[in-house]
Amino acid sequence: MKRSLLVTSALPYANGAIHLGHLVEYIQTDIWVRFQNLIGNHATYVCADDTHGTPIMLRAEKEGITPEALIARVHQEHLRDFTGFHIDFDLYHSTHSDENRECAETIYRALRDAGLIEVREIEQYYDTEKGMFLPDRFIKGTCPKCGADDQYGDNCESCGAAYTPSELKNPRSAVSGSTPVLKPSQHYFFKLSDPRCQQFLRDFTRSAPNGIPVLQLEAANKMQEWLGEPGENKLSDWDISRDAPYFGFAIPDAPGKYFYVWLDAPIGYMGAFRALANKQGLDFDATWKAGSQTELVHFIGKDILYFHALFWPAMLQFAGLRTPTKVNAHGFLTVDGAKMSKSRGTFITAESFIKQGLNPEWLRYYFAAKLNSTMEDLDLSFTDFTARVNSDLVGKYINIASRSAGFLVKNFEGRVLDSAMQHPLLEEIRAQAATIATHYDEREYGKAIREVMACADKVNAYVDQEKPWELAKNPDKQVELQTACSICLEAFRLLTLYLKPVLPVLAGNAESILGVAPMTWADVNTPLSSSTPVQAFKHLMQRVDQKQIDGLIEANKQSLAPAATAPIKADTKKPANQTA
Ligand code: MSP
Ligand code: ZN
Repeated sequence: MKRSLLVTSALPYANGAIHLGHLVEYIQTDIWVRFQNLIGNHATYVCADDTHGTPIMLRAEKEGITPEALIARVHQEHLRDFTGFHIDFDLYHSTHSDENRECAETIYRALRDAGLIEVREIEQYYDTEKGMFLPDRFIKGTCPKCGADDQYGDNCESCGAAYTPSELKNPRSAVSGSTPVLKPSQHYFFKLSDPRCQQFLRDFTRSAPNGIPVLQLEAANKMQEWLGEPGENKLSDWDISRDAPYFGFAIPDAPGKYFYVWLDAPIGYMGAFRALANKQGLDFDATWKAGSQTELVHFIGKDILYFHALFWPAMLQFAGLRTPTKVNAHGFLTVDGAKMSKSRGTFITAESFIKQGLNPEWLRYYFAAKLNSTMEDLDLSFTDFTARVNSDLVGKYINIASRSAGFLVKNFEGRVLDSAMQHPLLEEIRAQAATIATHYDEREYGKAIREVMACADKVNAYVDQEKPWELAKNPDKQVELQTACSICLEAFRLLTLYLKPVLPVLAGNAESILGVAPMTWADVNTPLSSSTPVQAFKHLMQRVDQKQIDGLIEANKQSLAPAATAPIKADTKKPANQTA
């Protein structure tokens, strides 16, 4: 049966450039969505910029523009970068939209009606000079544990201790430099500690819609840790409000209070879909109502699991809506074995990759070859990158076409021999379709790529054995030559189909050379035909040149700026009981 899927990637913050770490996720999702559509499912892919919060507000102020102007500019930059890497969203929206505001208000009101919103007074550091409450990341001071200076308000980068801002010694505001004062304020909380939430989340963690666990094993174990043993009540209520000045949505009936960015960020998935539904006349409620038959599949990084496996499902559930079918978390990207670093030039932006003339499909291929379904980190090693692209992708796969198409065009008007299309080698490659499809579906892309390359190895061994370049010299061997080249080219078509979710542009070019219509997975069984001649072969893909890699690293090298300015990285990943 045809599956209906709504697929999302996490919404990138609107205060920074898309980098190769981000791209792990968008490429992973895009491959999955393309694959689902290739096999005849109906997958819709939405995403958006995550636009709200203090860091974006302060960033805009620093640039001397309004937050609206900042997020409009970044939206264009992000979309340009995603398009450059062939990420094929049905809609790339923004959390700062009317659709999202509506969804956020609706969900909030439903939670309030369910008795799950509570107002409490809390004390927080306040910057009197700047006139604003300070998020933990905008407070710096001396670590209460080890005495290291210049540490953030929530944890120490020197000794790793976690604490609350009020425990920090000599606190000062990273915004104005002044000494903040503790000040009380009314905050709105989502009562996750409510027994209904606890029970729901326990069930949700272990649920397996359609027989597939909603969470990966590692994620389910993490959840178990967060939830504690049955009977234990480890979840604290979640602070969902922030005081003005704040760039976000005003909370209904709560003057001067705004939704915390992480409240309306996941709702942004809905907001984006609502905008798409409005545009295309789709049934919004059919997708979002409880019991919807459409699968809701989220791709996220492991750092934001807490938000997607706890807060978000609970919000949906108690607003009377459907919950996620699957939350797929991936690991973090390192470059040459280390955290991406601006000083080493390994904090590589998507924009620079394309500007330096590197082929985005090289990266898609490389990530695919390294990706699996776990939350393990993955490493981009440039030596490995170059080797895999040059020897596997170009050397093994592209070469199959180079070794066969030329002879067919020159000697046989570009026509394959129909009688060769059932050759055992081809049947063997066709027989891999189901295995490769399962690997893609299960997000085991590395395994899929290995299968494809194993097929390529067999084809190359076949070519080496048949030696078309020698057959070509012998007028008595023309049938053998046409046979060998036909088999080769049909094998190339099959491998192209298998790689199509990963290499959509290359596949498109190959399709036009082969004279075939855009292929779907079912076309495994639609061999090339003598009635449609193949075109003259052009270069489908270049090899990586080491100079390009050197240029890329050079272009991303930034001397370390003095750390006197406020951090622009959003502090929103701290799971538990954020107060700022
Ligand atoms: N805005 C939040 C997500 C809100 S979703 C309702 C956010 N934004 S982010 O820009 O920091 O990250 C966007 C996605 O990229 C996240 O899933 C994050 O895990 C992923 N990655 C960011 N850096 C990454 C690496 N270095 N490696 C792999 N993924 C990374 O979080
Ligand atoms: Zn410390």
